[in-house]
Amino acid sequence: MARKAFPLSKVYGLLEPGPVVMVTTARDGRRNIMTMSWHTMMEFEPPLVGCVISDRNYSFGLLKATNECVINIPTVEIAEKVVGCGNTSGSNIDKFETFGFTAKRAAEVRPPLIEECFANLECRVVDTTMVAKYCLFVVEVVKAWIDPAVKKPRTIHHLGTGNFMVAGEKIKLKSKMK
Ligand SMILES: Cc1cc2nc3c(=O)[nH]c(=O)nc-3n(C[C@H](O)[C@H](O)[C@H](O)COP(=O)(O)O)c2cc1C
Repeated sequence: MARKAFPLSKVYGLLEPGPVVMVTTARDGRRNIMTMSWHTMMEFEPPLVGCVISDRNYSFGLLKATNECVINIPTVEIAEKVVGCGNTSGSNIDKFETFGFTAKRAAEVRPPLIEECFANLECRVVDTTMVAKYCLFVVEVVKAWIDPAVKKPRTIHHLGTGNFMVAGEKIKLKSKMK
């Protein structure tokens, strides 16, 4: 089969991990939402997640100062708002108000859960050794919430340049992974 060279700048779109998520942070009475697709699982339990949060983002400073965030997992029904939170900065707007999201108090951390997301992971930063070089924060999920009413969450997955894949079909196969 004839193969075509694929631009290195687009490789991430082939390997994009997991669903697009929204990270909430908070400091001194201000709260923020940032869209994130560059994240990866690093440990089963306690669950560890690597998150790349650019130092150009307002969220970077909030997370660095407080070491707390919530990873909120949205579905396709609110995809436009998710992208909206990825194209605006919390330095000059309150994204909860702008996009009509409902903030819900978390159990273990200060940043709020986003009510409109079907899953919410309360996290604490546990490793900052790769922040200076890669803007990579390793966070531990200390409390996780799920909306049991959402039976088949249709999560969105970033393919690059405004393209998304919608998941939702589940198949069961034998696997050595948990
Ligand atoms: C689909 C999508 C995925 C994104 N993924 C990331 C990411 O993984 N890391 C990151 O630093 N920024 C990512 N961004 C960009 C930030 O969400 C964007 O810079 C945002 O405006 C930052 O908000 P803040 O300044 O309020 O923190 C993504 C944006 C979109 C639309």
